[in-house]
Amino acid sequence: MILRDAVRVLVNNWDGNYTVPSRRLYPHQWSWDSAFIAIGNARLSPRRARTELLSLFCAQWPDGRVPHIVFNPKVPEAAYFPGPQFWGVRAPSGSATSGIVQPPVHALAAWKTHLAEPDPAFLRRIYPRLVAQQGFLRTHRRSAKGLISIVHPWESGMDNSPAWDEPLQAVEPGQTGLVRKDLDTVSAEERPTDCDYARYVALALAYRDSGYRLPGAFQVEDPLFNAAYGLAEHTLAAIARELGLDPEPHEREASATTRALVDHLFDGALFQARDVRTGQLIDSASAAGLMPLLLPDLPDKVADALIDTALDRFALKDGVLPGYSPFAPGFDPARYWRGPSWINLDWLVWQGLKKRRPDLAGHLANGILCAAARAGLREYFDPFTLRGHGSRDFSWSAALVLDVVAEHALHSVPASGREIGQKLRCFGEAGNVSDHVPA
Ligand code: SER
Repeated sequence: MILRDAVRVLVNNWDGNYTVPSRRLYPHQWSWDSAFIAIGNARLSPRRARTELLSLFCAQWPDGRVPHIVFNPKVPEAAYFPGPQFWGVRAPSGSATSGIVQPPVHALAAWKTHLAEPDPAFLRRIYPRLVAQQGFLRTHRRSAKGLISIVHPWESGMDNSPAWDEPLQAVEPGQTGLVRKDLDTVSAEERPTDCDYARYVALALAYRDSGYRLPGAFQVEDPLFNAAYGLAEHTLAAIARELGLDPEPHEREASATTRALVDHLFDGALFQARDVRTGQLIDSASAAGLMPLLLPDLPDKVADALIDTALDRFALKDGVLPGYSPFAPGFDPARYWRGPSWINLDWLVWQGLKKRRPDLAGHLANGILCAAARAGLREYFDPFTLRGHGSRDFSWSAALVLDVVAEHALHSVPASGREIGQKLRCFGEAGNVSDHVPA
């Protein structure tokens, strides 16, 4: 049943070259969504996974940035706010895009796509683009401390995290009475407040007015973003090795990033974001602080402390992980990024635990499948009741469920991506979706 639903969601949300995160709430292509979706699609249709990633990177800017939204010209302006007219910019490909970025989880997606069905031509095409994506962040966003800054909460991917409440105080909310398209689909109690939205819009306008060059009143070094950046370098080293290129520059950059994270953002129990404007760590309890577990070279002592924190403050053993600690002020189990569990965060922590603590990783994998079975493929879930919130038929929930199932079901029998795809397709037949399942 979960598999049938996951296949149905990915098939229905496919738009020809990429997958919309959700038909009504997010009707264009989103950057980190596409990476997670490719990871799941790699289990079902590696061809679609490759197309998804290449279509996103087609909209890469000349400075290397990969925009967080690539707009579909066939979707009316009024279908999403802030839309193409608001951002007012086009990639050289001609696509209208936003001008901000999202966590760079794409190298991992490209590598997993290649592992599912080896395709050196795809790797050769995407590798220089992934290198340019990292190059943008290094050149335009890196501080002397060796960490990458984000300039908008939307760049963190965890838009409405309580960790951003304090730095957002420095942002004057501009326009009031904005037309909130998101509230047509999802109840206001599950989305950011109007005041938060007014701040998001004011920040995006200020960045736009600087030609997408100068940070405005919000500039932070986020542990999730930096862990993704470091993991991308580790992954680029593997890709370079596969292509017969020199992995050493990537390895060097990866270890420097891990060192910078530990030296500057670790508080002894959890990684914290740093407000670049004040120079201070932001004391919060966000699951973003667990993401350095993804880094294979994270010192064991630090990893052990993070695992203790995940158990004590994020109730890791109870099933799925809340996006924000339920024991901290600001936790809300139903509101966008303020406490619900998200399958992509669970999946990232699962990746980070697989080698270090297979027992806990197995727990989390079961939690993901349980949540999806109970609530359906919702955007987010109450971490305790598993009630679903946000949009329905959410693509990355579907995709990452496929990845978890594929790995769980097959871990005892090493199987190629094609074999896994065949098994999933068989399942699709049982669930009457075979006519639509991609080749
Ligand atoms: N995630 C944001 C939204 O809610 C912006 O990308 O639309």
